[in-house]
Amino acid sequence: MKVLLTGGAGYIGSHTCVELLNNGYEVVIADNFDNASEKVIDRIKQITGKTVDVYKIDVADKEALRELFSQCDIEAVIHFAGYKAVGESVAKPTMYYRNNLDTTLTLLEVMSEFNVKKIVFSSSATVYGVPKVVPLKEGMPTSCTNPYGWTKLFNEQILTDATVADKELSVVLLRYFNPIGAHKSGLIGESPNGVPNNLMPYITQVAVGKREKLGVFGDDYDTPDGTGVRDYIHVVDLANGHLKALEYINNGHKGTEIFNLGTGTGYSVLDIVKTFSKVNDLEIPYAIMERRAGDVAIVTADPEKANKQLNWTANFGLDDMCRDSWNWQKNNPNGYD
Ligand code: WQD
Repeated sequence: MKVLLTGGAGYIGSHTCVELLNNGYEVVIADNFDNASEKVIDRIKQITGKTVDVYKIDVADKEALRELFSQCDIEAVIHFAGYKAVGESVAKPTMYYRNNLDTTLTLLEVMSEFNVKKIVFSSSATVYGVPKVVPLKEGMPTSCTNPYGWTKLFNEQILTDATVADKELSVVLLRYFNPIGAHKSGLIGESPNGVPNNLMPYITQVAVGKREKLGVFGDDYDTPDGTGVRDYIHVVDLANGHLKALEYINNGHKGTEIFNLGTGTGYSVLDIVKTFSKVNDLEIPYAIMERRAGDVAIVTADPEKANKQLNWTANFGLDDMCRDSWNWQKNNPNGYD
């Protein structure tokens, strides 16, 4: 089965590509490489021994996407392509709405022209906004606190409406919690542009000597140690969630289904720092800072629906996530640059 990965050269896309190739799928990647390195393609081949067709295009470019579909017999799509920096989305909302919605709308139009009816969408726990209750279940209220989150929620709605209009369309929306870690080879991993927004890449850059110390954004939350609690999930577990979603679609799913991809276990910022230090035998200097605007105390998933309906469970624990994150950064001090 040939699967198109839009944004497939990115952090989660590349890990999903490896798992697809290792499970007998053929993969085509469409990526403009704005937020990804072309080195990833060689790294994927080193890991799997397999090649992928790569189209360096903007997914919102309809003619370019048409050409891809006309040249490749695409049977399903996993749609990762999109800007994803929360803070940047607040500063540049129009850019985020234009890019993150145009890619999806163009993709749906071209899929329709080529009679492609299967799509998995990379959504995010950010669509739950400020949770009133945790752990979060798929049917709980959604609302966003930043344009990035709204683009995810609007894309969920666009895809849902498309399945109402076309009863043959099969859509799975995957709401990611906090992906961290890297493939055990250390050949692919998270390589943010500039100063990392997210916790784990910041920690690994402190560990490798690129940053002086970690700023812990607040220790006065209503949590066991006062620091923010999140549901961290190994990126390889997340990748395998996409394979299970494809199987679910191939088994006859029609319409739209939403799944949380998380572990169900929350860890605080200081839990992460202590575990990272323990498993890697490294000190991580940190300083308590003010809270970051928009942050909430606790965000954790109830993954029961995915466990049961996708027959998927996260297997890696926090030690693995911390060990594999460091293995990637240690072997690639400047990421892919
Ligand atoms: C985790 C915890 C911070 C950095 C974001 C996006 C979300 C999704 C995942 C795309 C929080 C604390 C962080 C630092 C810190 N991305 N922290 N110092 O905010 O849960 O979610 O990434 O879908 O949409 O919102 O992840 O890694 O930024 O923060 O103390 O330098 O670490 O306060 O408690 P977050 P994060």
